[in-house]
Amino acid sequence: MKAVILAGGSGTRLYPCTELINKHLLPIYNKPMLYYPISLAMLLKIKEIVFVLNPGDEEVFKKIFIRLKRLGLNPDFVIQEKPRGLADALLKAEPYVKNSTIFLLLGDNLLYGHDLINVLAEAKKEVEENGGATVFGYYVHDPHRFGIVEFDRAGKVLSIEEKPKNPKSHYAAIGIYFLDSKALEFAKRVKPSHRGELEITSVLEQYLQQGILRVKLLGRGFAWFDAGTHDSFLEAGEFVATIERKTGLMIACLEEIAYRNGWINKEELLELAEPLKKTAYGKYLKRIAEEKFYAL
Ligand code: G1P
Repeated sequence: MKAVILAGGSGTRLYPCTELINKHLLPIYNKPMLYYPISLAMLLKIKEIVFVLNPGDEEVFKKIFIRLKRLGLNPDFVIQEKPRGLADALLKAEPYVKNSTIFLLLGDNLLYGHDLINVLAEAKKEVEENGGATVFGYYVHDPHRFGIVEFDRAGKVLSIEEKPKNPKSHYAAIGIYFLDSKALEFAKRVKPSHRGELEITSVLEQYLQQGILRVKLLGRGFAWFDAGTHDSFLEAGEFVATIERKTGLMIACLEEIAYRNGWINKEELLELAEPLKKTAYGKYLKRIAEEKFYAL
């Protein structure tokens, strides 16, 4: 399985902050937004990640890739010339993911929760072994803002709609998807929606029509943020700060994950920590490198 992280788009809901800078580079508390989706791919031991970017973002991402390569990852990028929607962005990654299963993540989504990795690993395994697609449903109060998934008591998906006026459920299909290789074929058939975009939900609808769309519910114990507006951006940062202070453990600390995955050794971790030594982040990396007791 390969990861595709969508890090383009216009980011207009975060203007004026994102008039000058790619939204995904803004900090959610103490690390760039992009670290959060990257961390999920790493926790699933996926090393091949392709980023879909806006024109002009190549140079800064090349710098990020230097760090990611030091962590054992194999990153690359493709350009989406215009923000034509998530299904269009996925199609840009076709040369990388053709004939492969896909872990598709929106660069502004942050997901945290108990046993999250096992939940994701199970979805990954299902798609790898049985094909189809798996989405994650999260209860929201404002369903007209998201892709909404409806399901019956047995958990069978009944419908999936993008930003419905009359939502059939309160469960948002969050921006994290496991897809088999049919996703590209389906994406090619998608027609622009009323907002003029090729929607990811139109890809998922085709999985539904073939009876191969699954939903996993993320209930109590999970926190999901789509950090695409000023309020949700701040809320996500506050959440990360609170959890990290309270637990003494960092969320989405890529260097730590690479170390615990065995992709870098203690010396490499300490080298990566060196330029960050004035920050709590750098001190944390040092602590991890020197710890005697394994923290979960
Ligand atoms: C996108 C998807 C939507 C999904 C949401 C999650 O919406 O189109 O289906 O629920 O991300 O963050 P957008 O952020 O493009 O409005």
